[in-house]
Amino acid sequence: MGIEMTSNFWPAEDSSRIPYAVFTDPELYARESKRLFAGPHWNYLCLDAEIRDPGQYVVSYIGERQVVVQRTEDGDVVAFLNSCAHRGAQLVRRMRGTATSHTCAYHQWCFSDRGDLLGVPQQRGVKGQGGMPKDFDKSKHGLRRIRVESYKGLVFGTFSDETPPLYDYLGPKIRPEIDRIFDRPVKVLGYYRQVIPANWKLYLENVKDPYHAGLLHLFHVTFGIYRPTMSGRVTMDESKGHSVLRTADIDEEQADVNSTYAGIDKYRTDYSLRDPSLFDVKPDYDDKVTNMIMTIFPNLMLGQVANTFQTRHVRPKGLNEFELYWTYLGFEDDDAEATEGKLRQSNFVGPAGYISLEDGEAGRLVQSGVNRREPDNCSTVQMGGRGAIEDQDTLATEVAVRGFWKCYSEAMGLARAQEQA
Ligand code: FES
Ligand SMILES: [Fe+2]
Repeated sequence: MGIEMTSNFWPAEDSSRIPYAVFTDPELYARESKRLFAGPHWNYLCLDAEIRDPGQYVVSYIGERQVVVQRTEDGDVVAFLNSCAHRGAQLVRRMRGTATSHTCAYHQWCFSDRGDLLGVPQQRGVKGQGGMPKDFDKSKHGLRRIRVESYKGLVFGTFSDETPPLYDYLGPKIRPEIDRIFDRPVKVLGYYRQVIPANWKLYLENVKDPYHAGLLHLFHVTFGIYRPTMSGRVTMDESKGHSVLRTADIDEEQADVNSTYAGIDKYRTDYSLRDPSLFDVKPDYDDKVTNMIMTIFPNLMLGQVANTFQTRHVRPKGLNEFELYWTYLGFEDDDAEATEGKLRQSNFVGPAGYISLEDGEAGRLVQSGVNRREPDNCSTVQMGGRGAIEDQDTLATEVAVRGFWKCYSEAMGLARAQEQA
């Protein structure tokens, strides 16, 4: 460890204080690769809708490792590490495509759509000389396969045999929220990609934190997509690692909005939109939910902002950088008007979104700040209270952030250091 892992390393059992080393320590980052991304967790890979036809594949990530997710000719979904079984070269070089076999650029080893080794050029040598040993068995030199399971069209992978079934991993409090959005076939309307100069976990903190949303995002507050005065709820699964933040536009009192924002210039009654068609979009659901942000441990976010739906895959690229990979969704049965409405509202999200733009900057600011702190200095995560980590019917809370850190510290074996002290 870059800093000493003493009983004080994780100072608050209730995760209400978090050492900044989690964002700055290279050894902790290396440990994440083993314990989180190769550990007993399901990692989001892609949508079933992206690989619907035989031969379709996408290249995704588990942590920093590239993974090919493939629909085989037989219609199965399989995944394998994107690294050749010969000398390790990156095998597939396009982000997505259709192929029933994959040939490595370096020495032309060829693999089936299940990752089995099909052919080795010059296996028997050239002019009777050289070649692979006689006992070389192709069946033992396939690509590294990865366990895959899917739920309602969301495809996940895991390196570990210990990972429980995906259905149980998601649990009874998370599944209904997935069911709500994936109640009919989705289609991909497009992608956004952005690189944020911050540790990947800062994005998880951000999307588990409804407190910031009504203070950082002027657009949210001014145009009424999200305000803490709306009805809101934070729900977590048993591990506390997955969470759902839900905001609905019901029971909001104007007097509460006025008093909450007295002296804070984020609620701007003098602002209006030149193009009101941005809000002239028929909602897909009539439950008045304006904002729903779900996170699935370790690094997937699935969300609704107004009438936009998207997955956001947090892809670490080193200690101080991650790629945020947005897959922007519509539904197969959307008519042209519904699709047009979703495309208009896509302006809310993505790297330059009217709302999401500020989250990238918040990540950069925090990383920049904590890089200058002593690693054993701690953040204060106490909005909504200390102690037990439980569901709350308020948006003035950081309880789901504490839930993430509880799950993280256990998965990383950090909480144990405290218990043994
Ligand atoms: S590294 Fe792939 S064929 Fe040699
Ligand atoms: Fe935000």
